[in-house]
Amino acid sequence: MSQNLAAFLYLVSGVLFIMALRGLSHPTTSRKGNLYGMVGMGIAIGTTLLLATPNFGGFLLIVLALAIGGGAGAYIARTIPMTAMPQLVAGFHSLVGFAAVMVAAAALYAPVSFGIGEIGSIHGQALIELALGAAIGAITFTGSVIAFLKLDGRMSGKPILLPYRHFINIGLLVLIVVFLAGLVQTESHFDFWLVLALALILGVLIIVPIGGADMPVVVSMLNSYSGWAAAGIGFTLGNLALIITGALVGSSGAILSYIMCKGMNRSFVSVILGGFGTGNGGAAGTDDSDKTVKQGSAEDAAYLMANASKVVIVPGYGMAVAQAQHALRELADNLKKAGIEVKYAIHPVAGRMPGHMNVLLAEANVPYDEVFELEDINSEFSQADVAYVIGANDVTNPAARDDKASPIYGMPILDVDKAKTCIFVKRSLGSGYAGIDNTLFYKGGTMMLLGDAKKVTEEINRAI
Ligand code: TAP
Repeated sequence: MSQNLAAFLYLVSGVLFIMALRGLSHPTTSRKGNLYGMVGMGIAIGTTLLLATPNFGGFLLIVLALAIGGGAGAYIARTIPMTAMPQLVAGFHSLVGFAAVMVAAAALYAPVSFGIGEIGSIHGQALIELALGAAIGAITFTGSVIAFLKLDGRMSGKPILLPYRHFINIGLLVLIVVFLAGLVQTESHFDFWLVLALALILGVLIIVPIGGADMPVVVSMLNSYSGWAAAGIGFTLGNLALIITGALVGSSGAILSYIMCKGMNRSFVSVILGGFGTGNGGAAGTDDSDKTVKQGSAEDAAYLMANASKVVIVPGYGMAVAQAQHALRELADNLKKAGIEVKYAIHPVAGRMPGHMNVLLAEANVPYDEVFELEDINSEFSQADVAYVIGANDVTNPAARDDKASPIYGMPILDVDKAKTCIFVKRSLGSGYAGIDNTLFYKGGTMMLLGDAKKVTEEINRAI
């Protein structure tokens, strides 16, 4: 295949990837977006194979690797529950970082095969690219592994704050730059492995101080890093598709991180510096003995809803755990049949990944025109008779609005307390992901309905 044709096909796949990102930005177009992405990736892989013209043995090896990797990916994607999607994404990012490190090491030890010079005289530019790709890849690798362990509950989600951590991190970064410069000047393999070791440590240290509530931003930030690492390696390999794809992943991840920070009213820098969630904003387990809680039954909730003219539903992580979305839609259908207006309010960080709630509601065939983002629905709570909060917690916590000492202070929340009655469905008075108490449970207009979200929703529906 000619280089020109290959460049053209890579450009086509790049355009398809952009169309994929565009499609994925809305539930109605996301399937099409996925399809564009798959076709683009198919073209990119096919072109790379034809361009490389490996011998038969090499070709077999590549096909075998594709079958093993693709098979494992397909199996994991089919079997993973929606609730475990964030850790899956973090796990996959770690593999991108690992692959970038491996390619960089291979290029350093076999430069002739990569067309970047000979051992001892690799082109300066190629050395810079592979060294940068390896360093970013190594940070992405260990950072993503820590994010995976935290999100999967195998490691505490609480921030681990080492003394002098900022100085240690800056020191490590300076050392990485020094040894990178050494590597580029002398092509020293020792410098290469030292850069890798330091970057692997830095990856761990920058993620451990980051608390649970900031994890979504971190996962998307690591997504961005993995893109830049891939783009760096794309330069080493001279592969246009990898450069384009890496840049798209890198920039879209960075934009998503920015949007999420804006959604939580947190600066990107404060997220990266970590420590969020260690304040004294009423940690879970505080003494609740002086607080009274109004508990109700499914019949009480049914009565309130059946007599309402407007009900706003606020889903959260607990709905995903209970898989209550179908029962919820049936309840909404019944209310609508009775002439009651029903809307869904989605917080940008509800659940455990961007768009988590939208995906679940779409799966239950909830009409898109009933689903509203925070800024479009917040003013409507004051006209609602019932806010039905199903498995959500942090995204409704008024401490974010009123308590300057709270670690989530400043995060926009859904103003469910402005509805006439706020019905909370969850299993206990325990905290949500940020690990802080929700004062709303003790307010006069709140009715707690303790139980599994799906079971309770079905009971309300029966009672209605
Ligand atoms: P959370 O604040 O985590 O609250 C979810 C609540 O669901 C928990 O308090 C839990 O209370 C309840 N729950 C769990 N299983 C349940 C079940 N089977 N039935 C009924 N209730 C159940 O969720 P949220 O309001 O959606 O807020 C999301 C939080 O996660 C934010 O802090 C956000 O920053 C963080 N986060 C978000 C993302 C993204 S991108 N969305 C990613 C990672 C983290 P009980 O145990 O008492 O039942």
